[in-house]
Amino acid sequence: MKNNYSNLFNVENKRIAIIGATGLLGSQYVEYLSSLGAIVIIGDVDFQKCKELSDKLNKEGKKTYPIWIDNTEEESIVAFIEEIEKKYNGLDVLINNAQIKPEGFYAPFEKYTKATLTKVLDGNLVGVSLACREACNLFLKSGSGVIINVASTYGIVAADQRLYDGVKNIYFPDEKFSSPVSYAISKAGIVQLTKYLASYFREKNIRVNCLTPGGVFDNHDETFNKQYSYRTTMGRMAERDEYNGAILYLCSDASSYMTGANIVVDGGWSVI
Ligand SMILES: NC(=O)c1ccc[n+]([C@@H]2O[C@H](COP(=O)([O-])OP(=O)(O)OC[C@H]3O[C@@H](n4cnc5c(N)ncnc54)[C@H](O)[C@@H]3O)[C@@H](O)[C@H]2O)c1
Repeated sequence: MKNNYSNLFNVENKRIAIIGATGLLGSQYVEYLSSLGAIVIIGDVDFQKCKELSDKLNKEGKKTYPIWIDNTEEESIVAFIEEIEKKYNGLDVLINNAQIKPEGFYAPFEKYTKATLTKVLDGNLVGVSLACREACNLFLKSGSGVIINVASTYGIVAADQRLYDGVKNIYFPDEKFSSPVSYAISKAGIVQLTKYLASYFREKNIRVNCLTPGGVFDNHDETFNKQYSYRTTMGRMAERDEYNGAILYLCSDASSYMTGANIVVDGGWSVI
């Protein structure tokens, strides 16, 4: 394939579906990609938010479409992709961005229950695998497609639990705060799922890559913000729009020779 250099990052009229599209980062991706002319399918378990975001952007002339999806439910995932196929006659890019935080999510490891572990794995990993399956079946019909799975630094290196020293645990007030095991193992699985699919769909013109973000500032506890920022080489947490560039790169032909890769954008957190 020969790239047209002037259009390397072009996503105009690309059909891009985002699962987990209304949260802190998902809504950034929706706004950014739709502002570049992409057709953005806003998928989330919170349909009210999907609808509000879509209505707001469509009024500004953007092309978005809200669809309810619960990615812990197989039928819902199947229905999500089916609706996209019906409405848009196919899909170009799927971004798996949802994360699940059920009751007990922030429990200390010693008290972590099977029910919570199972729920998190269901949403963060099993649901993502099924969404990849459904999207890839569509891509096989059309002959091409791109998947971006969102992992986390805590899926490639261990969470530095020292960063949470002195941070109040509002969920379990009698316990020290810690980053949960369910999050770490589900996000590590996402990196491997990505490599697996890149190899499985070899020579099928389906590219599957990972984005690994570091921590985004979201009015965090001051102690945590200070400790986390020190741990990055850049000395700060990310702003919420600082992953847009990597997402665009992965969605567009600029990454045409990349598959099975994991782009780490973490201000240097994982290099030390
Ligand atoms: N924010 C960070 O600092 C950070 C750091 C590293 C990685 N990440 C990863 O980036 C992604 C986005 O993070 P965020 O901070 O925007 O998260 P967020 O919690 O703000 O958003 C997650 C979205 O997923 C949706 N969701 C929850 N359960 C769902 C379900 N069952 N089906 C469909 N959607 C569901 C939520 O409604 C929400 O819109 C996540 O995968 C997260 O793990 C975030």
